[in-house]
Amino acid sequence: MPKIISLCKRRGFIFQSSEIYGGVEGLWDLGPLGALMKNNLREFWIKRFILEEENVVLIDGTVLMHPKTWEASGHLEHFTDPLVECKNCHQRFRANHMASGRFIGQGKAEEKNQCPNCGKKEFTDPKMFNLMFKTFLGPIEDEAHQSYLRPETAQSMFANFQNVLNSSRLKIPFGIAQIGRSFRNEITLGDFIFRSREFDLAEIEYFVEPGEDEKYFEIWLKKWEKFFLDLGIKKENLRKFEHPKESLAHYSKRTVDIEYKFPFGWAELAGVANRTDYDLKRHSQFSGQDLSYYDEDSKKRHFPYVIEPTMGLERAILAILCDAHHEVKGGRTKTTESTKEIEIVLKLDKKIAPIKVAVLPLVRNKPELVKKAKEVYQLLKLHFMCQYDELGSIGRRYRRQDEIGTVFCLAVDFESLKQDDLTVRDRDTMKQERVKIEDLVKVLKEKLEN
Ligand code: GAP
Repeated sequence: MPKIISLCKRRGFIFQSSEIYGGVEGLWDLGPLGALMKNNLREFWIKRFILEEENVVLIDGTVLMHPKTWEASGHLEHFTDPLVECKNCHQRFRANHMASGRFIGQGKAEEKNQCPNCGKKEFTDPKMFNLMFKTFLGPIEDEAHQSYLRPETAQSMFANFQNVLNSSRLKIPFGIAQIGRSFRNEITLGDFIFRSREFDLAEIEYFVEPGEDEKYFEIWLKKWEKFFLDLGIKKENLRKFEHPKESLAHYSKRTVDIEYKFPFGWAELAGVANRTDYDLKRHSQFSGQDLSYYDEDSKKRHFPYVIEPTMGLERAILAILCDAHHEVKGGRTKTTESTKEIEIVLKLDKKIAPIKVAVLPLVRNKPELVKKAKEVYQLLKLHFMCQYDELGSIGRRYRRQDEIGTVFCLAVDFESLKQDDLTVRDRDTMKQERVKIEDLVKVLKEKLEN
């Protein structure tokens, strides 16, 4: 984990938020490469579930909603974690994390139920702590104007169920999808961006006829697993976890987590839940609006059941980075600088890699090579996310690109001046092939899209 954290900061994937003020726990900024990576992940999710599915539509709802939303959804009552306070230093922890030994080895904790901050073992009784961030709508800060930053995107999809139905020609089964900012005032943080206080959720609420829910649960679980494999995550690092009844969320009849083998152990990466008709019924009850569905075939009304595949984008980015991180002892580019060192290669999937192509003149003190390389860069940057780099030896520049997962490095050499071609080096195989500059866009497009 320290290696991933260091790489992320050094190369501009992830920075701690407000670092100049000492940082804030649980808040992270995506740097230039992290932001591109997240955009690629978002685009792939939209391609897979909106473009390729026939009956899933995308919405973009607000973070703030009517305060009643959270009463109806059950979040006011149930979205809580048990919190204990150390009687000596007054630090607060999640009771179940304390009891499970999660802090052993951190700070002064050598055993379960020992404060990592001061080492003492006396805590207050657990109190339930609501994880939603409170705020006020408008200038009056009283209870009537109090609302919450959404802890999940799902609720605006339920609240818009009739709007979507009325404005489209969708029939059950169909889905509403959304990617958006979500906020949780987590008690226990750590493990880098795994558990943050602000993150993006990608969720689909798939509405089905009651009785068809178990069938669609299996269908979506398979689609969801395939999505993560298609992101390039290794099969052996993924597994499923079936929630026992006692750990199901208040709305769920069944939940299966897709877990990833993070450096700190197996943990939830994403999930699929059977939310039953809980949300639509509750919103009907609290709003007084009928959110049932009229089935034209059976001429009957019913409340659809909901299957919900969900993932946190930042958590997925962490899993992808961990999975792609490879160390090669002794170096693979065999430059004098690298032979004794460990070389890092980020074997990111082509779709997710932030930089697809780097253009590198062999040396920078030959103006004709630099001119040619810049021409190639200008040509390619209209088609692919590209970088131009002329600083340092060519071996060092290859290594720099390997470390950020750049898929192809193009070297412009003296032959290029005579033959109007260059070498294309594949990050993973390190094979080099000469390609005519006039064919470059087509060849790279084929390689990146296949
Ligand atoms: N709408 C269902 C829902 O919100 P969840 O299991 O609470 O379910 C969904 O969260 C996903 O959000 C998780 O699978 C995980 O990927 C991500 N997630 C949850 N809490 C997170 C946090 N504090 N920081 C980052 N990602 C988080």
